[in-house]
Amino acid sequence: MSTPRKIIIDTDPGQDDAVAILLALGSPKELDVLGVTAVAGNVPLALTQKNARIVCELAGRPDMKVFAGCGAPMGRKLVTAEHVHGKTGLDGPVMPDPTMPLQDMHAVEFIIETLRAEPAGTVTLCVLGPLTNIGTAFERAPDIIDRVQEIVLMGGAYFQVGNITPAAEFNIYVDPDAAKIIFGAGVDIVVMPLDVTHKALTTRPRVEAFRALGNEAGRMVAEWTDFFERFDKDKYGSKGAPLHDPCVIAYLLKPELFSGRHVNVEIEVTSDLTLGMTVADWWGVTHRPANALFMGDLNAEGFFELLNERIARL
Ligand code: RIB
Ligand code: CA
Repeated sequence: MSTPRKIIIDTDPGQDDAVAILLALGSPKELDVLGVTAVAGNVPLALTQKNARIVCELAGRPDMKVFAGCGAPMGRKLVTAEHVHGKTGLDGPVMPDPTMPLQDMHAVEFIIETLRAEPAGTVTLCVLGPLTNIGTAFERAPDIIDRVQEIVLMGGAYFQVGNITPAAEFNIYVDPDAAKIIFGAGVDIVVMPLDVTHKALTTRPRVEAFRALGNEAGRMVAEWTDFFERFDKDKYGSKGAPLHDPCVIAYLLKPELFSGRHVNVEIEVTSDLTLGMTVADWWGVTHRPANALFMGDLNAEGFFELLNERIARL
């Protein structure tokens, strides 16, 4: 049996982030989570670092190292999304405050130190929120860039255009400067844009299947989804909500669930109108070099089967 893949989960929980963390911690044979690094995004850092610990405890992992990272984007004012995730960021069920400790070390230092300590090319960065922690780490310690095995991130959009502005997806919009650093760093990048996450839609049977798992984790996932799907159903008139961030972890577990193209993706960082837009050259009309595997399709049934199977283990 192959050894588990070493990953760092960088996250702004967020109900969908929480489901992604549960999926990762429910897959110890395949994934070795070296640490969870919180970043400001859906809600401020004080809440994302607390929520990350709440989720690790829910997964039965109070030993997990959780770090607080950057409280604001690299060069801009923080934009949050309480309108989607609620004021706590994990609205839905009432959850107990965490008792596990937050690590003293700053998340950016942890990312730098871990990439320097682990053999080159053996650590994957799973980024579920704005890219501020990673962009800051790359800027502070350029030597770590070539040591990253791969970055798998949820962010951006092409055919689905924006969800926070008409042009931009939230994670990229919040910190487009950090995103520009990552997309220009030369690291292997796999992107889960709204084009694919909008196909990972919860439906009533899928939510009830989580609830029917009979464990606390399944019940929480159902209650988080009950809460956070109201926004997307109202906005898009869809049957359910997109489980954006679990797509990142599902890709590591079952890449065959996804399909996409190696294309060039550039980040808009100057125009007020299209700030944070991921300009994906899906049709190859420029000669800009491909810098990302940009996903476009998903086997949704297989995705939810995987989610159920792993969350049932917690
Ligand atoms: O646009 C969706 C992304 O923004 C998800 O990662 C969600 O958690 C929010 O961070
Ligand atoms: Ca997120």
